[in-house]
Amino acid sequence: MKFVRFIMQNSALASVPKHIEHFSKFSPSPLSMKQFLDFGSTNACEKTSFVFLRQELPVRLSNIMKEINLLPDRLLTTPSVQMVHGWYAQSLMEILEFLDKSPTDHRVLGDFVETLVNIRNRHNDVVPTMAQGVIEYKEAFGQDPLTNQNIQYFLDRFYTSRISIRMLINQHTLIFDGATNPVHPNTIGSIDPHCEVADVVKDAYESAKMLCDQYYLSSPDLVLREHNINNMNLPISIVYVPSHLYHMLFELFKNAMRATIENHNEGTNLPPIEVMVAIGGEDLSIKMSDRGGGVPFRKMENLFSYMYSTAPTPQIGQQRTPLAGFGYGLPITRLYARYFQGDLQLYSMEGYGTDAVIHLKALSTDSVERLPVYNKTALRNYKVSQGADDWCVPSREPLDLAGFRLAK
Ligand SMILES: Nc1ncnc2c1ncn2[C@@H]1O[C@H](COP(=O)(O)OP(=O)(O)OP(=O)(O)O)[C@@H](O)[C@H]1O
Ligand SMILES: [Mg+2]
Repeated sequence: MKFVRFIMQNSALASVPKHIEHFSKFSPSPLSMKQFLDFGSTNACEKTSFVFLRQELPVRLSNIMKEINLLPDRLLTTPSVQMVHGWYAQSLMEILEFLDKSPTDHRVLGDFVETLVNIRNRHNDVVPTMAQGVIEYKEAFGQDPLTNQNIQYFLDRFYTSRISIRMLINQHTLIFDGATNPVHPNTIGSIDPHCEVADVVKDAYESAKMLCDQYYLSSPDLVLREHNINNMNLPISIVYVPSHLYHMLFELFKNAMRATIENHNEGTNLPPIEVMVAIGGEDLSIKMSDRGGGVPFRKMENLFSYMYSTAPTPQIGQQRTPLAGFGYGLPITRLYARYFQGDLQLYSMEGYGTDAVIHLKALSTDSVERLPVYNKTALRNYKVSQGADDWCVPSREPLDLAGFRLAK
């Protein structure tokens, strides 16, 4: 029996490239926050969501799998990237099994939810596994600007795609598992139609503070202010995924706390971290300011690089601060912000401190998923060759002016 299942599984996996080819011809369909809410509120319809997802999930998976296959061979063939590839292929095949099933059969709908939960669990470790692949590559082949550029482009798209697939899966499984969220009964799946930003700021601060206190035995205070142009007396709220917002703020707090402490003799007279939340007609912005000594301007670009910031594999016995890990905090935070058309900007003054600003869309109609699509332009981005630099490189040697001297 086991053998039969093995043969069947392998023959199914052999047809994966054909399915990827087919589904990658479709573009993913970005949903707006409003559409996500409609899927899950008054007219929540499990059948509609099922029919949408059994097409949309293969489309999103196949679009990004086409790009995995464009990675440099030496990265694609690392054991870690192969493992991730295997997870994607397996999950694709599991969803395709529902293509010919009836949406009116309750058993089918129940099996679908179960399959989605399994897929979500299977993909839990995609980020560290992929990061491991990049480390393996770097250790074996070093770095070069072209591969860096390739990997940066790919991972930004790959992780965005992953965020979006998890969003779809979470919405379906949370809304149609028949239970209400006991902690937040008003949420629709993972979306809170009245997400009070200051509350999430405080939650994220407290969690980061706990880590910081544990490790450094002190932590900077929080000074939180709000500016609500619509109504000065009301707390600022937004239709958003609180877990995404929490994740972004937690990462920024960890960075700000670590910098503050390390810049102030480990805990004496710590300047507070100041957070300002403001909302206008279009944007909701959250600015976090620390006085942690900042980052030199030259290094700013690299803070978002997966290739530069990937920490070396931790050595046994070597203690690392829990406030800093892989070096993926900032790049992933920026992807979460961009996912619903926002952004993350960092302004630093070396010698003083850093302002990190999260910009989000204030209106739920503007918050639309930002998704990668596999097309000719994407393909071209993997094929770019490194041309010669078109800006002069200053010589490190002192210029010998002898040759320019006028003959007497
Ligand atoms: N507020 C800040 N002040 C000073 N330096 C900062 C600040 N935020 C980030 N950095 C610098 O940018 C680097 C990258 O930050 P990032 O959050 O991406 O990774 P990390 O903190 O090293 O690890 P991780 O966030 O994955 O645990 C940090 O190691 C730190 O040197
Ligand atoms: Mg960090």
